[in-house]
Amino acid sequence: MRTQVGIVGAGPAGLLLAHLLNLRGIESVVLDIRSRAEIEATIRAGVLEQGTVDVLNETGLGERMGREGFQHHGIELRFGGRGQRIDFPSLTGGKSVMVYAQHEVLKDLIQARVDSGGSMLFEVSHVSVYDLDTSSPKIRFRTREGALEELACDHIAGCDGTNSVCRRSVPEEALTVYEKVYPFGWFGILCNAPPSSSELIYALHERGFALVSTRSPEIQRMYFQVDPGDKVENWPDDRIWAEFRRRLATDDGWKPKEGPIFSKVIVGMRSFVVEPMQYGRLYLAGDCAHVVPPTGAKGLNLAVADVRVLAQALAEFYRTGSSEQLARYSATALRRVWKAERFSWWMTSMLHRFPGGDEFQYRMQLAELDYVTSSPAAATALAENYVGLPMG
Ligand code: DHB
Repeated sequence: MRTQVGIVGAGPAGLLLAHLLNLRGIESVVLDIRSRAEIEATIRAGVLEQGTVDVLNETGLGERMGREGFQHHGIELRFGGRGQRIDFPSLTGGKSVMVYAQHEVLKDLIQARVDSGGSMLFEVSHVSVYDLDTSSPKIRFRTREGALEELACDHIAGCDGTNSVCRRSVPEEALTVYEKVYPFGWFGILCNAPPSSSELIYALHERGFALVSTRSPEIQRMYFQVDPGDKVENWPDDRIWAEFRRRLATDDGWKPKEGPIFSKVIVGMRSFVVEPMQYGRLYLAGDCAHVVPPTGAKGLNLAVADVRVLAQALAEFYRTGSSEQLARYSATALRRVWKAERFSWWMTSMLHRFPGGDEFQYRMQLAELDYVTSSPAAATALAENYVGLPMG
């Protein structure tokens, strides 16, 4: 088998890259160890930056999002028993965000791939990549049916997530890893209830962080900070709701709308960046190259920004034969990656109680929240990052 661009991983990075390449007449093969059903059912993030929304709309993927997504024009920061709104359009020249779940974006991308007749192989196994520093890098894998295949490519895109085979195939000495692990995790729930609020609420309370998000008029997504070693079994529904009521309480008696909880997960929090995002003709994009803590919902949006840059560079390669843009891919992508890393780290640091942190640190966090919500300059800094920095 032969293709122009071999894409390992059918997540947001891999599938959007295949779509952008297809629009430019560049052929690719996407492969993933997971099944289509699993990919379409895995519930992840849900907030799309303005630039992500624009890319999906401009490339013909925005139809269902336009009907079923929810545009949000601001968020609330809640602390010291009161809520303060940050208004995005007035602070960013009219920008906003869209609440539309990642797995819904994936369904739309997979459908577009099917409609275009592009190659997409699910449930492959034994994936390996090699000859990365030659002009014909290769992907070897076993198909769902058990046949051993070799796919010769001009380029390989590593879009295979945190435990990336692609990243681990690069000689260790060629990559530098930057990592920070946070001493807390998020307990996430999905419940059947009406929205508690028309906008997302990020709360800092003495007992820790809490977040009110949404998925639809009937399904709500909420999170609260826990010890990363905690277990979901320790949290029966009534204990969860008591915790949300406490952390989200305001002086005027606000309470979340409660309903049956049908999903409980605990996720760890870390920041991770690998440099450079390229080795030979292997390009890393999305979670395999960088991870952000979830506060601020940057993960999916970063993957989208990466593959936009990569698709453009590959298009230049096929149009002119020049590798100049490809050689700059890592540096271009990393400038934006580090700024999103900074924003996610800052939001996380401002909004969580640090185990062992002293009262002074907590007072600094409250003062920072007061500053961010009362100074137009500081509010603008938050808003422009939240709706997304320029794509790069
Ligand atoms: C969601 C996740 C986030 O990390 C965030 O900052 C906002 C919303 C969510 O899953 O809805």
